[in-house]
Amino acid sequence: MNVVAFPEPGGVWQSVSDQVLEQLGRDTSLARGLPNAAFTDGAFHELEKARLFSRTWSFAAPASSIGDPGDILSVEIAGHPLILVRGHDHEVRAFHNVCPHRGARLVTESRCSRTVLTCPYHAWSYGLDGVLKGRPHYHGHGRHQTACDMAGEDVRLFAVPCRQWHDWVFVNIDGKAPDFESFMAPVEEHFNGYDITQFRRSDQTMAVEFACNWKLAVENYCDFYHVFSVHPALDRMMSPQTRQSMRESGCHLLNGYAFTASGRGIAVDDSGPGLPSQEGIDADLELSTRYAVLFPNFAVNVYPGSIQAVLFEPLAADRTIMRMWFYYVGDAAHASAHAESRDALYREWVELNNEDKDICLRLQEGRACTAYDGGRLAPHWDRGTVHFHRQVAHAIRREGAFAEP
Ligand code: FES
Ligand SMILES: [Fe+2]
Repeated sequence: MNVVAFPEPGGVWQSVSDQVLEQLGRDTSLARGLPNAAFTDGAFHELEKARLFSRTWSFAAPASSIGDPGDILSVEIAGHPLILVRGHDHEVRAFHNVCPHRGARLVTESRCSRTVLTCPYHAWSYGLDGVLKGRPHYHGHGRHQTACDMAGEDVRLFAVPCRQWHDWVFVNIDGKAPDFESFMAPVEEHFNGYDITQFRRSDQTMAVEFACNWKLAVENYCDFYHVFSVHPALDRMMSPQTRQSMRESGCHLLNGYAFTASGRGIAVDDSGPGLPSQEGIDADLELSTRYAVLFPNFAVNVYPGSIQAVLFEPLAADRTIMRMWFYYVGDAAHASAHAESRDALYREWVELNNEDKDICLRLQEGRACTAYDGGRLAPHWDRGTVHFHRQVAHAIRREGAFAEP
């Protein structure tokens, strides 16, 4: 029996057992979600960092945050301090934020710009590509080593596999994730017909702290069921006929909906100075939106006239920060003539997130109740949640798509 142990609150050891996995494999009406400890226990969260976030392609940052050659952004993924560096060739590379000599942290700023990365301890210097350039006093005081006399040596910063998809940079800490193209293929296909390349990032950003485990924040984001009871404005926007559970594709969850007549007005207000829509978009796509939640914690919503990129960043077992970035079509949509529409859209999201904050807290509080055993689920709506839990269980057990390569 393949059992991975993790402690329940109170120190009792439990497991993502075969039984838990079997319950996750049932039809949604009979399935049970992950046990409470998966949402409350710090030790389980540590396992997630090592086996899930380090194993897969984890979202690191928008590439536009590292705009020019020499720009450096510090991030932390699954507890690993990294730097994202824009090279002279305009490629973004990821490195562990540590000097290979004696292990000093290289960069302490959250963002900075450098032509060379010089370690503050003994001043070893590295190019933006991570390759060692020089070591002062290396052969004794006053006897420096330069790139010319390092023949045969290969000293460089510890690189982390890093890939960019549109404006979004992903890293794979342990280097064992499936190839990036297969990881992205279902998402590419889902957005077929929309042209993401037409979008540019605006200066609107949002950070909202949720008092819940990151999985509950993601599940809630994927839950289209609660719209009718929690989000009155969104409810008016979504055509009832097109509301459904998110469907799985690979490890991701995909969805979309068509706008009601008033909903389209919010998404693409072309009655006045509204948000311009993508050029060349099919008429039916202009009446709908598509969502993709990339496993484990990054989402992209593509509307005809806007994109929201959303990260659910775990801070602790019971705290998550949701970060959002907003994108609009071309240059025209960023002009002051459309400022009112951009602000209105932003306010819609503030409202939505505020409505979700209380629900997420309740979900977390509910996981303290020992009677709750993973749930009595709704077949029409909860299929996506069960799939999401299954991916987490597979990652923790290192099997299925997360088996050792
Ligand atoms: S630790 Fe960085 S140069 Fe010595
Ligand atoms: Fe919600």
